[in-house]
Amino acid sequence: MIDACNLFAKLPKAELHLHIEGSFEPDLMFEIAGRNHIDLPYATVEDLRKAYDFSELQDFLNIYYQGMGVLLKEQDFYDLTYAYLVRVHADHVDHVEIFFDPQGHTERGVSFETVITGIYRALVDGKEKLGISFKLIMSFLRHLSEESAFETLADAKPFLHMIDGVGLDSSENGNPPEKFEQVFQACRDLGLKRVAHAGEEGPPAYVWGALDSLGVDRLDHGNRSLEDDKLVARLVEEQMGLTVCPLSNLKLCVVKDMKDHPIRTMLQKGLLATINSDDPAYFGGYMNDNFKALHEALDMTIDETVQLVKNSYTASFLPPEEIAKRLAKVDMMVKELR
Ligand code: HPA
Ligand code: ZN
Repeated sequence: MIDACNLFAKLPKAELHLHIEGSFEPDLMFEIAGRNHIDLPYATVEDLRKAYDFSELQDFLNIYYQGMGVLLKEQDFYDLTYAYLVRVHADHVDHVEIFFDPQGHTERGVSFETVITGIYRALVDGKEKLGISFKLIMSFLRHLSEESAFETLADAKPFLHMIDGVGLDSSENGNPPEKFEQVFQACRDLGLKRVAHAGEEGPPAYVWGALDSLGVDRLDHGNRSLEDDKLVARLVEEQMGLTVCPLSNLKLCVVKDMKDHPIRTMLQKGLLATINSDDPAYFGGYMNDNFKALHEALDMTIDETVQLVKNSYTASFLPPEEIAKRLAKVDMMVKELR
């Protein structure tokens, strides 16, 4: 008889909220900085890790943008992405929908082509060698202008066959979704899926904005939706996927203690919540570490665990027949393991 704690580790699952630049582990960062002759403002990997002490989103973003500054060449982006895939393969992740932040690189003079071809080549190799299917989501930085987002979309035009969707990330407060309404409309016209970070630090009004102004197909975080009953009812009715990130929430002080995490409430209300790692190199863990942290704090049941794992496929952008196959596989494994 299996308990919930070793069940999550064994089941196949999808990751839907992962910033590839946030999977940049200190050892690889030092290695790439070395070969690119860039000095990091930290003497050792340990010193760098000590800097990962955040009291809000902006503290993290400052370090996150500094870290990605050593990525210059196509091979750097390949190595970053392939290292992530190898790591989550061990957690039985068999489908990923990853974000990348092109403006974090083009602003530094690295071409859009360099960034996307490195990431994409690793994703293709990961599919072939590790069996991990993928979608690629280009995120706009919301602290920059909509004009800059339009320029990024223009840069992306020759590579649209590699891109499945667009997202919105970076500093949430003061940068509401409505700021990007036109560019999201243009992306919709191009047939791209749309997601946005909302309700991580920002108020429920930002979640409404993501739904009504951006027309999102899925919401990233969404924690603060719980403050608004009408909003919760809408999210439940539409079965809108929420990509929840427990260790990120703890590290960025969105929750004070993992025991206060709202994941159980979300499931009880009927929200399509999923578990994800966000920026695993900075927040203390990958996919299964997030499940583990929830189990230790909240003593999740087998039914809750299976629900969360199945939600990861249901909320994905895989075609319906593929979702059905993956769900059937989870059901079969749960039956065998029970
Ligand atoms: N929130 C907003 N922007 C981000 C994050 C996040 O958690 N991670 C990387 N960019
Ligand atoms: Zn995120």
